[in-house]
Amino acid sequence: MHISRTVGDLRKQIAELKQIGKKVALVPTMGALHEGHLSLIRIAKKHADAVIVSAFINPTQFGPGEDYDRYPKTESFDINACEAEGVEIYFMPGVKEMYGEKNHIGFSIDKLDEHLCGASRPHHFKGVVQVVNKLFNIVEPNVAVFGQKDIQQYKILERMRDEFAHPVEMVRAPIVRDTDGLALSSRNAYLTKDQRNKAPMLYQALHYVSMRIQKGDTHLTNLLEDRKRTLTANGFQVDYFQCVETNELQPVTEPEAGQNYIVAGAVYLGATRLIDNIIVEASDRVK
Ligand code: PAJ
Repeated sequence: MHISRTVGDLRKQIAELKQIGKKVALVPTMGALHEGHLSLIRIAKKHADAVIVSAFINPTQFGPGEDYDRYPKTESFDINACEAEGVEIYFMPGVKEMYGEKNHIGFSIDKLDEHLCGASRPHHFKGVVQVVNKLFNIVEPNVAVFGQKDIQQYKILERMRDEFAHPVEMVRAPIVRDTDGLALSSRNAYLTKDQRNKAPMLYQALHYVSMRIQKGDTHLTNLLEDRKRTLTANGFQVDYFQCVETNELQPVTEPEAGQNYIVAGAVYLGATRLIDNIIVEASDRVK
């Protein structure tokens, strides 16, 4: 596996791969890799001949008071794991390499970041778009793989791909969970034992609501409030717990049969923020 730390070196390596006709897949990450990330690499391998993993803790997607400074770093584990997965190039630029001294041009997002994580992390997705747009321009991948875990991120990046005409196929990878249902996350490492034991309740609550939608429940207001109350009673601080439509990610309380919806939640356990979601098709079956 080749390790690149500069844009120039990465471009040179990629040009060589493309010259010999290799189809290239990009898996952007912030490091602190777990099985969820590794599943993305395995999916990427099925879609391309060479996989490039980027590991960059992107400062522009963290807000003031968020965990940028204490974001977990497991560099040597990550490098070994990628090598074992047969990754071709591991790209780990520094902040200066990616952004120079100062950036003068940014992005704005309409509608898609109004709700869910965008509501409580107002600059987050602009930072995500900034870095992934740049990665797409540097790597010019044929395929890029992202996880459903960050569904709002996926939807916004898909829109960026279309609106900025990036010729890249995007693949959405399913959420990898622990045996008790908790979605794997680099941030799970922050949880105390007690918090870790409680954490799967978020998935259970999302699962319950998605089952109700699937069974034809068309009145979600009380159901959502009820689940929120249960989570709060169990020591979670609920940031949001919502059902949204899949186009502009606007909240919905009366799902229509045949349509797809995203049931999504974000909670705090202590200072740790956990997110999860389920995509579900509403039915008109009588409950
Ligand atoms: P990070 O949180 O490191 O996640 C990298 C990728 O792994 C994302 O596409 C995310 O959705 C996916 N992922 C995380 N947990 C997963 C799980 N349990 N199952 C499946 N996939 C999972 O997301 C980011 O980094 C950044 O915002 C980034 C896109 C790299 C831009 O900085």
